[in-house]
Amino acid sequence: MIVAIDGPAGAGKSTVARALAAKLGFSYLDTGAMYRALAWLAGERGVDPEDGPALAALGRANPIDFDAEGRTQIAATDVTEAIRRPEVDRVVSPVARQPEVRLLMRERQRELAALGDSVIEGRDIGSVVVPNAEVKVYLVADEAVRAGRRMVERPGIEAEALTADLRRRDESDAPQMQRAPDAVLVDTTRLTVEQVVELVEALVAEKRIPSGRLHL
Ligand code: DC
Repeated sequence: MIVAIDGPAGAGKSTVARALAAKLGFSYLDTGAMYRALAWLAGERGVDPEDGPALAALGRANPIDFDAEGRTQIAATDVTEAIRRPEVDRVVSPVARQPEVRLLMRERQRELAALGDSVIEGRDIGSVVVPNAEVKVYLVADEAVRAGRRMVERPGIEAEALTADLRRRDESDAPQMQRAPDAVLVDTTRLTVEQVVELVEALVAEKRIPSGRLHL
């Protein structure tokens, strides 16, 4: 079974997807980390974040991997922490916008999805990458709450700068943000992580019951 969790930055995707995967015993795939790893490597190698063909060539030559603990690797480097830095926040969106990059990443994401039960988070998972995912959720939250969550993840950066950055990323990510028409919309503004996880778990259980009944 595939559980697709999409939504904008700061809506709670990573926290929820990780907790849900652990509870269900599913693997967890963070597709944003893949775009981030490529953006990081482009910075290291001096590749223009708007040059789609060069980025795709770089990505093809340096496949992204996740180890057993879910740490992100590219070009024989563990980039798990480096890809969360503000420098990467700033360039990842243009990188992710390049059609050549999206083609390459989606190909790899589908390969990883085919390995078995997984919770996959991103922007276009339920709509484009795995449109036949059994469970699709689209998380949203108020801007102030999203910025507040980012502050916890990025200590030392001021609220105003984070809010401005979120706005820029929302605009820049908008063309890639495709909500599947059949995704369940969940506003996480006033919900705890546990509440959101329980809600998605209930959707998973609903999908499991019909096939169970057939075997009665
Ligand atoms: O979720 P995140 O902030 O780690 O995502 C990083 C960037 O990658 C963000 O600018 C949107 C982009 N992205 C995308 O275009 N498609 C995805 N499936 C996942 C992320």
